[in-house]
Amino acid sequence: MTAERWSSRVGFLLATVGAAVGLGNIWRFSSVLGANGGGAYLVPYLLAAFALAVPLLVLELAVGRTLRTDVVSAFSSVDRSYTAFGWLVVGGVLLILSYYLVLTGWVLGFLISWLVGSQTPFSTFTSGWLPVGYFVVVTILTGGIVSRGVRGGIERMAKVVMPTVFALLVLLALYAVTFPGWGEAVTFLFTPDLSVLAEPGVWSAAVGQVFFSLSVGQGIMLTYGSYTDEGMDFFRSSLLITVADIAAALLAGLVIFPIVFSFGLEPTLGTELAFTTLPTAFVSMAVGRVVAVAFFGLLFFAALSSAVSLLEVGVAAATTWTRIDRMRATALLTAGVFVAGIPSALSYSSVRLLVAGRPVLDIVDESVGTYALPVSGFLIAVVFVWAADFEAVHEELGRLYPLVKYVIPPVLALVTLARALGVARPAWRLLIDQPRDGLLGVVVAGLILSLLVALGWLLRSKLSDAARRCGRQPR
Ligand code: PHE
Repeated sequence: MTAERWSSRVGFLLATVGAAVGLGNIWRFSSVLGANGGGAYLVPYLLAAFALAVPLLVLELAVGRTLRTDVVSAFSSVDRSYTAFGWLVVGGVLLILSYYLVLTGWVLGFLISWLVGSQTPFSTFTSGWLPVGYFVVVTILTGGIVSRGVRGGIERMAKVVMPTVFALLVLLALYAVTFPGWGEAVTFLFTPDLSVLAEPGVWSAAVGQVFFSLSVGQGIMLTYGSYTDEGMDFFRSSLLITVADIAAALLAGLVIFPIVFSFGLEPTLGTELAFTTLPTAFVSMAVGRVVAVAFFGLLFFAALSSAVSLLEVGVAAATTWTRIDRMRATALLTAGVFVAGIPSALSYSSVRLLVAGRPVLDIVDESVGTYALPVSGFLIAVVFVWAADFEAVHEELGRLYPLVKYVIPPVLALVTLARALGVARPAWRLLIDQPRDGLLGVVVAGLILSLLVALGWLLRSKLSDAARRCGRQPR
């Protein structure tokens, strides 16, 4: 049972938008959009956002507020045997955090190098020790914010960081209007092509991008929901969070694509986009340094508030389960995440930590980054709707209830399996456009199948329990 609360609705919204808007909106959105043919991709993207992500957001927030607890306790309060699923979700989140912080460190490194005017090429930057140093700095910063608590740390940070992110995005997008490639960029971004809707690859990329970008289905929104007051309308809040998240992504597109087209660069870029392609353009711009500082500054702020939300999921679980205080729990988890992130941090550095010829960071991204998201989302949707049916949650979902019950679990299972079996394009990862490992796919597909079987078996034996519990709100 948690006692902490957001100070206001605005504080809650800024924190949740902060959790959602991150590297995914600014860097990944443009990469995925570029790789999937621009505006063609927008239709499945918007559909996935409003039909799938919004209902799941409402579910998570409502479960958080109904149970007023962390994600592990939430699972275990449905049934003790589900506790392990809760830890699985937390484990996935912390592993994502371990390499998300490495990437956030790169962003901070680029921000500082443009600030001091000594920008180095990406390959030179990553091959030295500096990225490891920046990884340490951002890890300590994230831990420092979370250790100060919900109001004093997370909400206070969000109130500074999020308005800055949006202000910088709007200013940069306005500046981008003056670029010769602006018209071409707008056409590229907003010309829908309904024929791609028949392509499963585009759908899986869109669903993947939406879930990644909104941080939904990871227990983050459940945790943040547990700090809200009664009476807050989660449907309206979820719409607002989704619209803000999409707006951030589109604004970022309206900054990035005019630059890409005006400087004759390639729109179909992957990881390279933020760190190699755009800097090429910044160098030749009149006020390139200012633009670069604004761009990396907003990217850093956006990433930091997402990293904080990832850590908070673990800290909330640790403080409830071990009864150690927030300060200690944060210190311990931050240290753990740091250790887990060292191989990723070293993979591009001079140590060149490779496994099977690939940087560890890419491997973690391909495994955890790819599968933790849909699997966690699936577990949350199934356990909190099929196994437990809390009246308050049901009421909050209203007409969205059938979507969460009948549409979201099969879609998540399908997209995950399709991805694992290699029939869909990379859908969930941050570093897209890398060759994938066939064997890994088979192993993961096997693991997911076993998980589904285990879950089905557990659910079967608990069905009668669940039916009785229906309508009651367990503590
Ligand atoms: N949503 C965040 C982003 O867009 C990152 C994130 C992904 C957070 C997955 C949690 C889970 O960058």
